[in-house]
Amino acid sequence: MKLKYSIIISFLCSLIFGQNNSFEPGKLWKDTDGVHINAHGGGVIFVDGIYYWYGEFKTEGKGGNTALKGVSCYSSKDLYNWHNEGIVLKVEENLKSEITKGCIMERPKVVFNKKTGKYVMWFHLELKGKGYDAARAGVAMSDSPKGPFTYKKSYRPNKGVWPIGFKEEWKSASADQKNLKSWTPEWLTAIENGMLVRRDFEKGQMSRDMTIYVDDDEKAYLIHSSEENLTLHISELTDDYLDFTDKWTRMSPAGHNEAPAVFKKDGIYYMITSGCTGWDPNEARSFKSKSIWGPWESLGNPCIGKDAELTFHSQSTYIFPVLGKKDQFIFMADRWKPDNPIDGTYIWLPIKINKEKPILNWLDKWNLAYFREN
Ligand code: DGJ
Repeated sequence: MKLKYSIIISFLCSLIFGQNNSFEPGKLWKDTDGVHINAHGGGVIFVDGIYYWYGEFKTEGKGGNTALKGVSCYSSKDLYNWHNEGIVLKVEENLKSEITKGCIMERPKVVFNKKTGKYVMWFHLELKGKGYDAARAGVAMSDSPKGPFTYKKSYRPNKGVWPIGFKEEWKSASADQKNLKSWTPEWLTAIENGMLVRRDFEKGQMSRDMTIYVDDDEKAYLIHSSEENLTLHISELTDDYLDFTDKWTRMSPAGHNEAPAVFKKDGIYYMITSGCTGWDPNEARSFKSKSIWGPWESLGNPCIGKDAELTFHSQSTYIFPVLGKKDQFIFMADRWKPDNPIDGTYIWLPIKINKEKPILNWLDKWNLAYFREN
């Protein structure tokens, strides 16, 4: 259906049936049962005219950021009205399971693999009771976008493999400088020169905040905060999207980026990230590159307007194209509520590109007509 007609129909439905016909960033977003949507740190895919939104199912109180249920899914035909499809990847009651109840499952992203016909979910996994030390990437699979997803395994990516462009002299332990004080210029240089890549070479590289990006040639990449969140890694996935090819690179070494979200427009790759301040918001960053492998050019804060220096009190999560086409992109972010995580809200904004720089303007209320009118 043409965008214009779907906008008119959704407007009429909102009058007649009380349906939503707009986004109100930061407000409570009720699903079709009237319950605030519970899909945090999520991602959206578009399959046969239906959008699926996957996210972390949070609960009330201090422990509400741990996974007590699993990954939730909602479906929608118009992006405004969401039907709860339930928990599509469930935590397990078995204490030996890596995804036992009480582990941490963050930022789930689902992609469709055309070769295998499977839906593949990747997420940031932390093992129960180990804080954020495990730093693993978990993967699950399903035959349907509505799940159920079956948990496969988790990885410390790129075990025993050096990244592209890693200098010979950085590979040996003799490059290690002991007792460097954190955040000194010498320490930052040592990080840039791969001190932590070397440390984790045998064990595999850390993987915390992450996203998945599928390129036009169907190659997929895990983009993840690694090296104690100091450096992003871009790791190519195998053709079935379930493993790594051993081809990987580092991006913005010692740049301290979290929350990566990637999209491509007119042949240019763009990335929006945040700094690292736990659940507190900070200033977003943006980058562009002609290749997924870089070099990535830093473009500064993409946000404009009140509270732009705090990403409008939110943190990036994902970027997806409207109707699966590659001309209109929606930026998804989370306004975390660590004291009562279930109350976290969603900041969705249209992305504009101005002279090869992504721009996010704050809007109290907007709908898809914005893309036609701006
Ligand atoms: C910021 C990350 O972006 C979130 O996903 C979460 O891991 C918090 N840190 C935990 O403090």
